[in-house]
Amino acid sequence: MKPLAAAVRASVVFVGLLWSAPGLAAPTALEFADTRAGQSLDGDWHVIVDPYDNGLLDYRNQPRRNGYFRDAPPKDETDLVEYDFARSPTLKVPGDWNTQRPELLYYEGTVWYERRFDAPKAPATGRQFVQFGAAAQRATVWLNGRQLGAHEGGFTPFAFEVTGQLRPRGNSLVVMVNNTRRVNALPATNTDWWNYGGLTRGVRLVETPAVFIRNARLQCAKGDPRHLTAVIALDGARAPATVVVQIPELGERVSFQTDAAGHGTSTFEAAPTLWSPEAPRLYEVTISSGEDAVRDRIGFRTIEALGTEIRLNGKSIFLRGIALHEEALGRGGRATSRADAEALLGLAKELGCNFVRLAHYPHNEEMTRAADRMGLLVWSEIPVYWTIAWTDAGTLADARAQLAEEIARDGNRASVILWSVGNETPVSDARTRFLRTLVADARAADPTRLVTAALEHHPAGPDAERIDDPLGAELDVLGLNEYVGWYDGLPQKCDTLTWSAAYDKPIVVSELGAGAKAGLHGGALTRFSEEYQADLYRRQLAMLRKVPAVRGMSPWILVDFRSPRRPLPGVQGGWNRKGLVSNDGRKKQAFRVLRDAYRNLGNPGRVPKPSRDGLR
Ligand code: GCU
Repeated sequence: MKPLAAAVRASVVFVGLLWSAPGLAAPTALEFADTRAGQSLDGDWHVIVDPYDNGLLDYRNQPRRNGYFRDAPPKDETDLVEYDFARSPTLKVPGDWNTQRPELLYYEGTVWYERRFDAPKAPATGRQFVQFGAAAQRATVWLNGRQLGAHEGGFTPFAFEVTGQLRPRGNSLVVMVNNTRRVNALPATNTDWWNYGGLTRGVRLVETPAVFIRNARLQCAKGDPRHLTAVIALDGARAPATVVVQIPELGERVSFQTDAAGHGTSTFEAAPTLWSPEAPRLYEVTISSGEDAVRDRIGFRTIEALGTEIRLNGKSIFLRGIALHEEALGRGGRATSRADAEALLGLAKELGCNFVRLAHYPHNEEMTRAADRMGLLVWSEIPVYWTIAWTDAGTLADARAQLAEEIARDGNRASVILWSVGNETPVSDARTRFLRTLVADARAADPTRLVTAALEHHPAGPDAERIDDPLGAELDVLGLNEYVGWYDGLPQKCDTLTWSAAYDKPIVVSELGAGAKAGLHGGALTRFSEEYQADLYRRQLAMLRKVPAVRGMSPWILVDFRSPRRPLPGVQGGWNRKGLVSNDGRKKQAFRVLRDAYRNLGNPGRVPKPSRDGLR
């Protein structure tokens, strides 16, 4: 294995904290980073596009002594230095590089990012960290020419401690970002979305006291809306410490002791107004210990699967959903901001949704926080997508690390109800073993939520399909991707097709759909016409109404999105056209079909009773 790859893998392995299953790499990111003292390093960063990794490797493919990470301009006129960040072009952070410069649209490889910043004198006993919201798909980081570490995975946060390493002025932060697709990476080499590269989420210098609250989870105990459980991990503790949890609006003030390692938990009675899509009630919460105090806005709810029902706050619910990629509406490229999130989720609300599937990787935190505020339940997923290197130990470690990082980041988001460990992964023993490990990790790291995956299904006789994927036995909710009427026959096939499952569990139809070019019209059998897509939705909805165990759906997809697998000239042109809305915001006929169907489900409070005829 190449030294760089080895370095990248090695750096994700840290001593396990409470936040991850035993023996699992512990996430490095700090929770509450955005509300802590510090400074944003977002903005224009100088960049060098480096397709040959010239900034790192010499002609022997060995790490250079004076590579770009040194960020050292020539000492004098005789000094040969063949790069200069200060005179190099810039790219915006956060943001992907593909949509910022036309010549980078298809670029896969390395881009070096450099940012100079002054660091005001930090309190003598304090600590400093550099935190990245995400870097796609992997990053190695240097501060003032010294390597801090590396991170694999393009959709989760990570941080490095830089205490004592900062200069008052002119600190050099250099990040080697690489988005080369690899067979043993996650995702692997074959996906149906654009391989955006870059510092796609914010960068921040974060200050903390010597002992600080690294992670804090406050949620309802599983199935028990009358008790809240606080789980705390302090960083830097050398002795038991007192932690105080306050929820002023509930008049709650609870204090408890951690153990000497700074880990502590407390369960206490409380009577919050429970969070739901109709009433997304969030509470101001303050958690303090010693010199440290953090704040968050948290909603409290319970989520369970019982038989074929999904129960939110003890009541059966139907998930009226839609799937979406993390692409900014109109502008295209990675969505990054609060406004981007609200624009996308606003469309989902307009569709009558109470649920969204954020596919196929953890979206940025603005998205899950907006879902908390706007009242949308969330399916969140790590990019274990299609075929990956199931027997590669490094790939499994990456998957486990990305899952732990996702759960640590969004563990307090009431909106997030489902952790998905995979999408359309072909059944094999090695695959099922791999995914079983992730299911166990998710349960260990977060016993309060449901675990799912988008499963395979197989013909079970003429006009019959069955979900009998062996992984179904491990899951709380069965995800079903089916394209009856698009990849599988014509829409009429829906009229007679029946569905069954080998497990008495709720089914969420995590994908269904058809392509349509906005404004392209024709008969109901004209591929890519709006009429075809609308007709398919009508027939799909009628088919699924007959399946009692179908307790939710997230049709594919809210908005057309970029994909290098979609070249059809004049129709796709590099876009997957299964959106109900075009990438420039035009609603297709099927948008109204689904909206009306969701509206017919009656007022948001109406819950279809699981009965012989299922979705009524
Ligand atoms: C798959 C896959 C999606 C893809 C979709 C499609 O089911 O999960 O990522 O975009 O099908 O073919 O449009």
